[in-house]
Amino acid sequence: MGKKIIVAPSLLAADFSNLKKEIQEVENFGADFLHLDVMDGNFVPNISFGTPVLKAIRPHTSLVFDVHLMVEDPCHLIHLFKDCADIITVHAESTKHLNRTIQLIKSMEKKVGVALNPSTPLDVLKYDLNNIDMVLIMTVNPGFGGQKFIPEMLTKIKELRKLAPKIDIEVDGGINNETGKLAVEAGANILVAGSYIFSGDYQNKINSLKL
Ligand code: DX5
Ligand code: ZN
Repeated sequence: MGKKIIVAPSLLAADFSNLKKEIQEVENFGADFLHLDVMDGNFVPNISFGTPVLKAIRPHTSLVFDVHLMVEDPCHLIHLFKDCADIITVHAESTKHLNRTIQLIKSMEKKVGVALNPSTPLDVLKYDLNNIDMVLIMTVNPGFGGQKFIPEMLTKIKELRKLAPKIDIEVDGGINNETGKLAVEAGANILVAGSYIFSGDYQNKINSLKL
C-alpha cells in the first residue's frame, strides 16, 4: 500500500503582502506542510526570503515547516533555522560535505531531507540513504516557480522507491493534479505545489492533489 499523500504548498507563489492570510487559508483547506524555499542568489539565480520571514510566520500556523535550502555551502547557515524549521532539506550539489551536513541537521533534532537537481543521479545518496528522512526529487531546475515538470524524473522516482521502500519522497516543480498523480504512481508521497495552488481555488486544488 502507498503512503498517505502529503500536500506542501510552496510559499514562493503566495501573495507576499498577505502572508499570514495565505498560510491560514491553505492550512484550513487541508495542507499538511508549508514548503519554504530559501534562495541565496548564488546556488540558484534568484533570491527569496530567509529566517526573519520564517520566524514572523511561525506563530501563526501549525503547519509543518518544510524548509528547502537552495544555498551554497549550507553548513554554516543551518543553525539559523533552529526555531523555524521542522524538516531541513539541503541540496547534495551545494556542499562538499553532505554527510557532515546531514549529521549537523540531525544534531539539531530536525528531520533531514536531501534534494537532487534533475541531472544529479541517485548514486550520490548511496551511503547516506539510511541516515535521512526524505529525498526531494527536483522535477524542475531550482530557482523559480511556474516551470514545466520534467517527465524523465518519473524514472528517477521509481528507481528511488525501489531502493528505499519506506523513505519519504518529495517532488517539487511543475506539480499540478496531472503531474502530481504521475509522481504518486511512480512512488512519491509528498507533493510540493506553488503556482498550481496559489493561482486560486485553494481548497479544490489541495483536494485534487490528494486524490
Ligand atoms: C523552485 C522551488 C519550488 C517552487 C515550485 O526552485 O523549489 O518549490 O516554488 O513552484 P511551482 O509549483 O510553481 O513549480
Ligand atoms: Zn522548493
